[in-house]
Amino acid sequence: MDLLIVGSGLFGLTIAERAAASGRRVTVIDRRSHIGGNAYSEADPETGIEVHRYGAHLFHTSNPAVWEYVNRFTTFTDYVHRVYTTHRGVVYPLPINLGTINQFFQASYSPTQARALIHEQAGEFESHAAVSLEEKAIALIGRPLYEAFIRDYTAKQWQTDPRELPAEIISRLPVRYTYDNRYFNDTWEGLPTDGYTAWLERMADHPNIDVRLDTDFFDDSQPLHKAATVGQVPIVYTGPVDRYFDDAEGALSWRTLDFEREVVPVGDFQGTSVMNYADADAPHTRILEFRHFHPERADRYPTDKTVIVREYSRFATPQDEPYYPVNTPADRAGLLAYRELAKGEKDVHFGGRLGTYQYLDMHMAIGSALSMWNNRLS
Ligand code: FDA
Repeated sequence: MDLLIVGSGLFGLTIAERAAASGRRVTVIDRRSHIGGNAYSEADPETGIEVHRYGAHLFHTSNPAVWEYVNRFTTFTDYVHRVYTTHRGVVYPLPINLGTINQFFQASYSPTQARALIHEQAGEFESHAAVSLEEKAIALIGRPLYEAFIRDYTAKQWQTDPRELPAEIISRLPVRYTYDNRYFNDTWEGLPTDGYTAWLERMADHPNIDVRLDTDFFDDSQPLHKAATVGQVPIVYTGPVDRYFDDAEGALSWRTLDFEREVVPVGDFQGTSVMNYADADAPHTRILEFRHFHPERADRYPTDKTVIVREYSRFATPQDEPYYPVNTPADRAGLLAYRELAKGEKDVHFGGRLGTYQYLDMHMAIGSALSMWNNRLS
């Protein structure tokens, strides 16, 4: 073995694929029973509809090197992501755009008129003087839009009143003064034609790659555990950085999601893939309906049932899946301390979202793995 990779998410798989293609013998371990990390998807057993087990995953990028790379393993559909939100029983398009504004104010403002209105409403607070997320949001988009679309949704995401949340959680709230409600601004977007798992399996399909599932790096009873491998073989570690150092500098905090999956006996539940729930009276933040990610599969998916997933957000306990870094001042100080410790680890390379404690979109995870391979490992 020339390289041990801990974690078979997109970061680990990208390193594995590059290393194998250059002739190295690679072993990838993952404590889960499947490869692919959080991008993994599976066919729902009752309906055959592809479900993203760890939350909706939409691929998008403007990075030509990443786009070229991912297209070696899968083609992409022409799916274009759009999100809607329900507020007081009415559905609005997101991100907030001219359509949202005109529907909300029951008006027919031109872009110039809408811009002037929001500018006036945003004058209540100075953006740079805002002390809470609430004041910052009002300084960016004004109180009426904030109270309708941001306040309760943010409170549900953080289980915290936005008046108690720090202003720096948001730096901008996009408002578009056109009717464009495409969710992503990237050059390329789409979903892998045969699903995420087929894509991820093709990345790992090389005679030089040995994948071992259900194998935890910190389990001393398995041969490739930490004490037996560090210093013996180069390691790319994509698990949680704090766990690697036994939480020596404190546990970094995360938010997690609970997913409540249901098969509903209708062909179409909500007419779109993602519906947010902006108000406090709905306990979930959004409902995903997975059939709508693949309209081109309509002839293969049942017409009398559909899979929906209600999503709930909360702070993670140590037993939960870590999804979004909370990033408190204590977390940031802890991360700096862990980075110092990481420098002292001989031939261990920390990467990916858990290994660097940052939210990474898939194209960012792949892009940073390609950089690590090119600059430090190849
Ligand atoms: P990832 O978490 O995927 O993989 C890490 C792997 O390491 C896991 O398989 C884990 O089991 C393994 N591991 C950890 N500890 C271990 C141990 N001790 N021993 C062995 N294995 C261990 N991105 C995007 O582009 N578009 C999108 O729409 C979304 N949507 C989205 C929704 C939600 C809810 C989340 C949380 C994230 C997204 N993402 C996304 C981001 C996407 O999931 C992310 O870019 C990739 O998961 C990053 O891949 P990594 O390999 O870094 O981590």
